[in-house]
Amino acid sequence: MLDKIEALKEELNGLVANGVDEAEELRIKYLSKKGIIGNLFDEFKTIPADQKRVIGAELNNLKKFAAEKINALKDSFEKSEDETGGIDLTLPGDSIKMGSRHPLAIVRNEIIEIFARLGFVVSEGPEIEDDWHVFSALNFPPEHPARDMQDTFFIEKDPDVLLRTHTSSVQVRVMEKTQPPIRAIFPGRVFRNEAISARAHCIFHQVEGLYVDEDVSFADMKQTLLYFAREMFGEKTEIRLRPSYFPFTEPSAEMDVSCSICAGKGCNVCKYTGWLEIMGCGMVDPNVLELCNIDNKKYTGFAFGMGIERIAMLKFGVKDLRLFFENDVRFLNQFQSAF
Ligand code: PHE
Repeated sequence: MLDKIEALKEELNGLVANGVDEAEELRIKYLSKKGIIGNLFDEFKTIPADQKRVIGAELNNLKKFAAEKINALKDSFEKSEDETGGIDLTLPGDSIKMGSRHPLAIVRNEIIEIFARLGFVVSEGPEIEDDWHVFSALNFPPEHPARDMQDTFFIEKDPDVLLRTHTSSVQVRVMEKTQPPIRAIFPGRVFRNEAISARAHCIFHQVEGLYVDEDVSFADMKQTLLYFAREMFGEKTEIRLRPSYFPFTEPSAEMDVSCSICAGKGCNVCKYTGWLEIMGCGMVDPNVLELCNIDNKKYTGFAFGMGIERIAMLKFGVKDLRLFFENDVRFLNQFQSAF
C-alpha cells in the first residue's frame, strides 16, 4: 500500500491539464468517492490494524497533496482565461480632477464680453508706473493725498517709480498714443497701501473704460453703463448716478445699481438702502485730454472704473474679500464659468 501511495504521488506531481474541464476530470479521477484515492480509502479498511496508523497518515497526506495540486491547476486556468489579467473592467474609473476658473477671472471675462458687444476693445498697461501716468497727467494736484506714501507703494526710494493705484493710468497711455475715436477697456491689478480686511486688500483688480470721440455726452455714458448693469446683474436692474469728485473727470459721479439681492427693497447687503455702489465715472476732464495731446475743442469723452472684487462679491454673495486671494480649492471650485 505504501508503494502505491508513493507511486501515486509521483504521478500527481507530473499532472498536466489543458483547461479547466480537464482539471475537473482529474479531480473526479483521483478525488471522487469512486476515484483512485477514494478506492484506496476503501482498501484501507481491510489492512491489519497495526499498520493503520502509519498508512492512514500517508493516505491523508496523499489526499491533501492531490487536492492542492488539482486546485492549483484549476486556478491557473481561471486566471489565464480571464483575458484582462485579473483587472475588473466594469469598475468605475478614477475621476480626473478638473481645475476651475478663478471667480475674479470669470467676472473679468464677463465684463470684457459685455463691453465687447458695444465695440470696446481691451488694452493693458504696466503695473509698475511713474508719477506722470498715475497722477500728473490725470490732473492730480501736486499736494493730493493719493500721492502720499500712506496710500501709494513706491519702489525703492525713487518717488517716480510706483505701483499703480488705479487702472486710470492706462487711459493716459492709450490717449498718448492713439487719436480718437477711442473705445477701450483696461482690466488689471492695482495696489494700495491698505490694511487687509474683509472689505479691503492691498492688491485688487479693476476694469477701466474709456470712450473718446466727437460729441460724446454724459447721456451716452449713462446709457452705456445702464446696458452694462443690466447685462451683469439682470434686466430689471436700475442705476443711479450720484455727484462725486475725481481729479480727472468733470463732472464726476458714483454709480449705484439697485440691489439684486433684495430687488431694491432693502437688505443687509445694501444696508437697507436698496442700492449698491459699483463704480466711479465721469466726463474726461478737458485738462486730461490736453495733457494727452488730444484736441479738447473737438473731442469729449467719458471714463469709468470699477473693482472686480466688489462685483464678484455682489454677484456670488461672497462676504470676505480675502477669500479671493487665499486660493483654497474648496472655495474656488464653487464657481462655474460660462466663458
Ligand atoms: N480711478 C478711480 C478709482 O480708482 C475710478 C474712476 C475711473 C473714476 C474712471 C472715474 C473715471 O477710484
